[in-house]
Amino acid sequence: EKFFAPSGPLKGKHVLVTAGPTHEPIDPVRYIANRSSGKQGYAIARAAAEAGARVTLVSGPVDLADPPGVSVVRVESARDMLASVEIALPADIGIFAAAVADWRVVHEGAQKLKKIGEASPALSLVENPDILATLSHRKEGRPPLMVGFAAETENVIENAKQKLLRKGCDLIVANDVSTATGVMGGDQNTVHLVSAAGVETWPTLAKTDVARKLVEHLSVLAGASKA
Ligand code: CTP
Ligand code: CA
Repeated sequence: EKFFAPSGPLKGKHVLVTAGPTHEPIDPVRYIANRSSGKQGYAIARAAAEAGARVTLVSGPVDLADPPGVSVVRVESARDMLASVEIALPADIGIFAAAVADWRVVHEGAQKLKKIGEASPALSLVENPDILATLSHRKEGRPPLMVGFAAETENVIENAKQKLLRKGCDLIVANDVSTATGVMGGDQNTVHLVSAAGVETWPTLAKTDVARKLVEHLSVLAGASKA
């Protein structure tokens, strides 16, 4: 086995990344989920490791291989994701790329729901914990650099600005996921970086290049020294 001593701009930093969807069980065979391939989050985890960071990737169910040199924790639900994130702390940088399901059902069926009678089942929903907001608003143990994502289908910049304030994070990476853009599951992404410093729009890039550029940007913000 080869061992590479980490070097690079994020050497000595712990980077925590969430990625993929979460699955919220309805019964043993059904769940609620968001559309998310996990590609952007996995590319970011990989780029952070290549920049010399120790990386923990807390991932919902996706069809992707573990990025090399990254410690991957696989979870199903939003509550599992929050618990695994808590275990992985402390971190220097938190990057929350997961498409967390906003709601789960109040009562998960122990058995498969059956089509009995004429009425369709009504699902009562309850809000999931907001992982990004929970950690961003924390006084102690908050990663010094907190990055959220905003997948929007309209008013991308305006929604992202509001999200930045509401979540209490330092940066929002916003993108337009209306179906015409093909970003969902695709290999390209057009993002806007929204922070107190203003709005920076990047050209359309491969998700792997967005990841590298973002890691470079965060290395500077985290005050990392050049390797
Ligand atoms: N997020 C999270 N936990 C949640 C919901 C969202 O950590 N329960 C994070 C996402 O990973 C992302 C950011 O918050 O980094 C924004 O997610 P988004 O779904 O765009 O924001 P919401 O506040 O859920 O607003 P919306 O009503 O637009 O879905
Ligand atoms: Ca949401």
